[in-house]
Amino acid sequence: MFDLLTVGQLSLPQIEWLIARAAFYKQQPVSSFLKARSIGLIFEKASTRTRLSSEVAIVRLGGHPIFLSTGDMQLKRGETLADSARVLSRYLDALIIRTYGHDTLKEWAYHATIPVINGLTDLHHPAQILSDLFTLVERRRQLKGLKLVYIGDSNNIAHSLIEGGAITGMEVVISHPEGFGPNPEVVSGAALLGNGRLSFCPDPIKAVKGADVIYTDTWVSMGQEHEEDQRAKRFSGYQVATHLLEGAKTDVLVMHCLPAHRGHEITDEVMDGPHSIVFDQAANRLPMQQAILEACMDEGGSCL
Ligand code: CP
Ligand code: NVA
Repeated sequence: MFDLLTVGQLSLPQIEWLIARAAFYKQQPVSSFLKARSIGLIFEKASTRTRLSSEVAIVRLGGHPIFLSTGDMQLKRGETLADSARVLSRYLDALIIRTYGHDTLKEWAYHATIPVINGLTDLHHPAQILSDLFTLVERRRQLKGLKLVYIGDSNNIAHSLIEGGAITGMEVVISHPEGFGPNPEVVSGAALLGNGRLSFCPDPIKAVKGADVIYTDTWVSMGQEHEEDQRAKRFSGYQVATHLLEGAKTDVLVMHCLPAHRGHEITDEVMDGPHSIVFDQAANRLPMQQAILEACMDEGGSCL
């Protein structure tokens, strides 16, 4: 049993196991692995994919999901996170948490005695990126050596991609406007994780040269809504549009974790075009969430 807080905590064999297991659950979705077990979902931010894929994954594994909005809990009235974590650990078998600060997630993990699974923080989104690595393996079989160009804001998605790319041996290029680069600790930590290559290229047209994959995400993550106008100006040259795909490989794959802000970070034409695999990404969240739950909750530790 273990917590899943970041991609960077995983080894290459662990990521490979999760991908293989997601492929298995895609073929055989129903199991009794979580029979009579209850998993709490604490979401402080909006969610469509993570909440739904988690709830359905738990049901398919024979378990019982319990959605908990922090506004409905005594947390709202001042019960401490530490006390809440201790109490919830006495009823539940795992927690999936979406929150703001990554330190808050770490605090939950520290005080809970059951596995805590990251459902997104401001800094990381491991469940999304593990699922995306699975989607890429389905399409390209091998991750090692793939050139993935991330264009836009160096947010939670970019951070988890940087870690995933490092561990799996990908060439990750980040193209961002000045002042919107990744967290330096994530970058320096990723350098120690594997043999992937990470580089930066502020010009998106140069960055995508020879790209196997172009990945983008919103310019305004949850919690940054007050910066929307300023960000729209700073990111205007970083839209993933048809002309940008021309320098990439002819069979380039376009990825987005969704939700997309059509007409901002990505055009309708690209999003709905032949290179886009964004809805396959969304679909794969479900079997990968099953794999993650199994890995984190396997008491025998035989999974990983
Ligand atoms: N990609 C993703 O995590 O989507 P949600 O915010 O809808 O969960
Ligand atoms: N970077 C986005 C991802 C949403 C799934 C956000 O944090 O809002």
